[in-house]
Amino acid sequence: MTTRTDYCGRLDTSDVGRVVTVCGWVARRREHGEHLAFIDLRDRTGVVQCVVDGAADLRNEYVVAVTGTVRERPEGTVNPELATGRVEIGDTTVEILNPSDPLPFQIDSRVEVDETIRIRHRYLDLRSERMQRNMRLRARVNSAIRRAMEAQEFVEIETPMLIASTPEGARDFVVPSRLQPGSFYALPQSPQLFKQLCMVGGIDRYFQLARCLRDEDLRADRQFEFIQLDMEMSFADGADVRAVISEAVAAAVEEVTGTRPPSFPEITWQEAMERFGSDKPDTRFGMELVELTEVFADTGFNAFKAPSVKGIRVPGGASLGRNKLDQLTDRVKSWGAKGLVWIKVGDAGQVTSPVAKFLSETEVAGLLAATGAEAGDIIYLVADEWRTVVRILGLLRLELGRPPVTEGGLDFLWVTDFPLFEDIDENGTPVSAHHPFTMPGAEYVDGLAEAAGDPEKLLAMTSQAYDLVLNGWELGSGSVRVHRADIQNAIFSLLGIGPEEAQAKFGFLLDAFRYGAPPHAGFAFGIDRVVAILAGEENIREVIAFPKTQSGADPLTHAPTPIDPAQLDELGLRLLPPKS
Ligand code: AMO
Ligand code: AMP
Repeated sequence: MTTRTDYCGRLDTSDVGRVVTVCGWVARRREHGEHLAFIDLRDRTGVVQCVVDGAADLRNEYVVAVTGTVRERPEGTVNPELATGRVEIGDTTVEILNPSDPLPFQIDSRVEVDETIRIRHRYLDLRSERMQRNMRLRARVNSAIRRAMEAQEFVEIETPMLIASTPEGARDFVVPSRLQPGSFYALPQSPQLFKQLCMVGGIDRYFQLARCLRDEDLRADRQFEFIQLDMEMSFADGADVRAVISEAVAAAVEEVTGTRPPSFPEITWQEAMERFGSDKPDTRFGMELVELTEVFADTGFNAFKAPSVKGIRVPGGASLGRNKLDQLTDRVKSWGAKGLVWIKVGDAGQVTSPVAKFLSETEVAGLLAATGAEAGDIIYLVADEWRTVVRILGLLRLELGRPPVTEGGLDFLWVTDFPLFEDIDENGTPVSAHHPFTMPGAEYVDGLAEAAGDPEKLLAMTSQAYDLVLNGWELGSGSVRVHRADIQNAIFSLLGIGPEEAQAKFGFLLDAFRYGAPPHAGFAFGIDRVVAILAGEENIREVIAFPKTQSGADPLTHAPTPIDPAQLDELGLRLLPPKS
């Protein structure tokens, strides 16, 4: 094979007169008269135009080496869109290194191709400018994060893939054991327990670009397999962890955009819910929730006789017609609201609403004052239990105001002091908001036992857990961990996990904690999600080299596939007939 001397995308006018050999794929050919053709040759750096004589047998995606002389393009044929648009390679000889069958789709980022077909032929899709950019961007983000963690004296440690179950709230992927038929390994939903063991092991500062596996429904921001920047540190609190992570994320952003995010503001979960109706607020736009319970404290309007009334104001929203408003009301009801009240503000400050006749002058005045509504605005109101009101208005706010995730800059936000328990189940047992190893808020540590059986007390308890949010996406979660056996046992007991079950599930961790566990805290964020947003992609599949489709299948390798009976036999497994 002729030896490559140059990359396609790097040739420019300073190379004029040089004899070069470039290698790559035929991206496009245009005929020029009977014998001459213009070939766009593509490699990982870009494309360059080659003028080829007698190119009859050159087709798209043939792999070739082109040797020729770099020359300036004639006047009027310069292509300012192309980095190499001022030059071309002439007087060429072409060596065909490998032909190509006609392609199932054109490799051209301007043409929309069905995603299943793209994934089925991912090796072709990867040749596109978009995927080349995304893969390289991802590698740079990984590298920047790794450097930032190392600069902060974190040690990269690889934790095992074949483990016992780690509770992160999803289903486990399991692997049958051949040597112990009937027993199974779980694939890690995260390295959570191992990183805590590393702290007991005196590692002090651990990190890993960790592969995690969770059997859950796939969405735009979810795959079965994904990568976390996972970290844990000893003798540290939440603020220490947030500083380390902010630094790593800032380094990644700077690597890609050239500038560091100006700040990583912090708000508490309570404030996030009050102002945005979400624990992952999108702070790129306003339309914050307005507290109105007091305004309607003595109302005669039945719908507003509720523990909480709040609203959002949409500037200029009064132009919405009756039909649209009815549709919106139905939508809000489908989310679980009892109804939706809308109030339009007219030019003279007068209000229009189907329920206007039920509202007193004082109430209307109070409403306008609290929301700051002006002529042309619309106000939406919901009344219910506080939890329902903030959840519904949070969804409505996103529905009405949210820009595409990739527009409007990068708004990072730390949300701190999450509740310890997110809910109480049918049996009266609380459900961890993060995971059972999360330290309660300092003021609740001593009162855990007393809270048992008291839903109000349980739900009011905060924890030392925090999330990092970017443009309304949850990037990551972490917490200060429980390192004391008495606190851990109290939490297990609240969660209805008895001593035997705790020992069976997490005995190795509890054992380790008996031998001098340092106070520690940590965090993990989804690399796929950060990279997607930095790449301007709405779906993390676009930044994963070989992703699964929405249904969890891989059209490229056809996984998952049946295995042969001999293999099942060896594993001591027998299949049930398929469920109808
Ligand atoms: P958590 O379960 O919140 O925390 O996960 C942390 C981050 O991992 C990313 N992530 C995902 N990304 C793509 N596809 C998925 N299916 C998926 N699931 C999660 C998200 C998420 O915010 N061990 C704890 C962290 C800790 O406490 O230190 C944990 O795994 O970006
Ligand atoms: P109703 O009294 O159920 O006929 O409702 C009168 C109006 O108030 C309708 O426009 C409902 O959509 C609205 N509405 C009813 N309940 C609520 C509620 N809890 N919060 C906000 N609006 C409501």
